[in-house]
Amino acid sequence: MMSLKINGQDHQVDAEPDTPLLYVLRDDIKLNAAKYGCGLGQCGACTVIVDGNAVFSCVTPILLLKDKEITTLEGLGTIEKPAPIQRAFMAEQSAQCGYCIPGMMMRAQALLQRNPNPTDQQIRAELAPHLCRCGTHMRILRAVHRAAEMMTRADAGDQGGTL
Ligand code: FES
Ligand code: FES
Repeated sequence: MMSLKINGQDHQVDAEPDTPLLYVLRDDIKLNAAKYGCGLGQCGACTVIVDGNAVFSCVTPILLLKDKEITTLEGLGTIEKPAPIQRAFMAEQSAQCGYCIPGMMMRAQALLQRNPNPTDQQIRAELAPHLCRCGTHMRILRAVHRAAEMMTRADAGDQGGTL
């Protein structure tokens, strides 16, 4: 039995220490935003945030996560109250099939937390490990810029209520 802190809540997990975090999230805790794409750390679909850093949960064994803060897309916002990054991706209609989008949003969120105003080049470099077979890259890029603006306005006192 191991304790994992996910989206601010402690979860007791009965799994082998080398079990990938992705399996625990999806199978045990029923948090299904992180997706199984390649299972090899090569597509980004499974990305979550651990202590502020984007990680591939498919190749991250839970034994490395003791006392770490794990955040999944479900921890950012809800359908009723989406986070700025989620509102921005919706506003730019960045999803086609949508499979890559949770991972894209999580890495973009981690980027914006440490760099609130990234350049085009910085966003492209950050998202380079992520594959999108639908080719919505330009809409994803616009969404990250939009989220940056919304988060900056919210920090300045505007609640970022408009898309
Ligand atoms: S499923 Fe984890 S990187 Fe592809
Ligand atoms: S929207 Fe389909 S894989 Fe990116």
